[in-house]
Amino acid sequence: MLLKNKVAAVFNPANKRSIAWAIAREMDAQGAQLLLGYQNERTKGNVEKLAEELKNPPLALIPLDVTDDDQLAAAAATAKSSAGHVDILVHSLAFAPRECLEKPFLETQRESFKMALDISAYSLTAMFQAFAPILRDGASIMAMSYYGAEKVVPNYNVMGVAKAALEASVRYLAYDLGPRQIRVNAISAGPINTLAARGVSGFVDMLDKYQERTPMKRGITADEVANTAVYLASHLASGVTGETIYVDAGYNIMGLTEER
Ligand SMILES: NC(=O)c1ccc[n+]([C@@H]2O[C@H](COP(=O)([O-])OP(=O)(O)OC[C@H]3O[C@@H](n4cnc5c(N)ncnc54)[C@H](O)[C@@H]3O)[C@@H](O)[C@H]2O)c1
Repeated sequence: MLLKNKVAAVFNPANKRSIAWAIAREMDAQGAQLLLGYQNERTKGNVEKLAEELKNPPLALIPLDVTDDDQLAAAAATAKSSAGHVDILVHSLAFAPRECLEKPFLETQRESFKMALDISAYSLTAMFQAFAPILRDGASIMAMSYYGAEKVVPNYNVMGVAKAALEASVRYLAYDLGPRQIRVNAISAGPINTLAARGVSGFVDMLDKYQERTPMKRGITADEVANTAVYLASHLASGVTGETIYVDAGYNIMGLTEER
């Protein structure tokens, strides 16, 4: 029960494959009380059903589209009225227009770039600003990233640029929030077959290749990401901030990725 008596706000599962859902489930199993987000009416029903599987019913289900400042404020207000404070803030959401994940990066249009960076990177800072008054000193904030932030992964394109901005935001937020003992980290997860991932052209082929080429000769699961999220949220990671932690079966350590 690593997270007993902690309140965790997890944004946003879409369905049972979502990394956010794996994190919510594992945090629930570790004793956290959950505030569970959903983006819109389209995903609300799924999240309501998933919530029934939790050991402890969530304190609230909270709508949150991160492009909407009013919703950000309302989400924090709901969190305050239903939980009083937040100890763990999980940012597990991203978006880029589909054509950006198909066409060459050099064709990226200004509006698509803005949208991808706004939703996938700036939103972490916006979420922090909204939740700041109810975040406990010593809280843990985390966001999900991917190796395409650092190296070229074909078709990941503007999302790679957004993840680079997200990882840099994590470091700057960690610096600003350090005096309050609030820790901010990113988890760089290997590819997992989720709704968002399948939006990247050629994802399923890439997943097969990836699994052959990691040192561990396999891919990773959302549950493995969730376990690292629990670690980051717990006292076990009390000295860890500003980091990008890989949960990728070791893929990022390879200089030459060949099938074995
Ligand atoms: N699946 C992977 O291979 C992988 C690998 C590394 C990192 N990630 C990251 O993990 C996170 C979760 O993605 P996932 O793979 O679980 O996919 P997912 O499709 O299950 O989750 C993505 C979530 O983002 C939400 N979202 C999109 N636009 C939003 C907006 N404007 N406001 C609020 N929410 C919005 C969606 O509603 C959805 O719930 C993302 O940041 C993703 O980039 C995924």
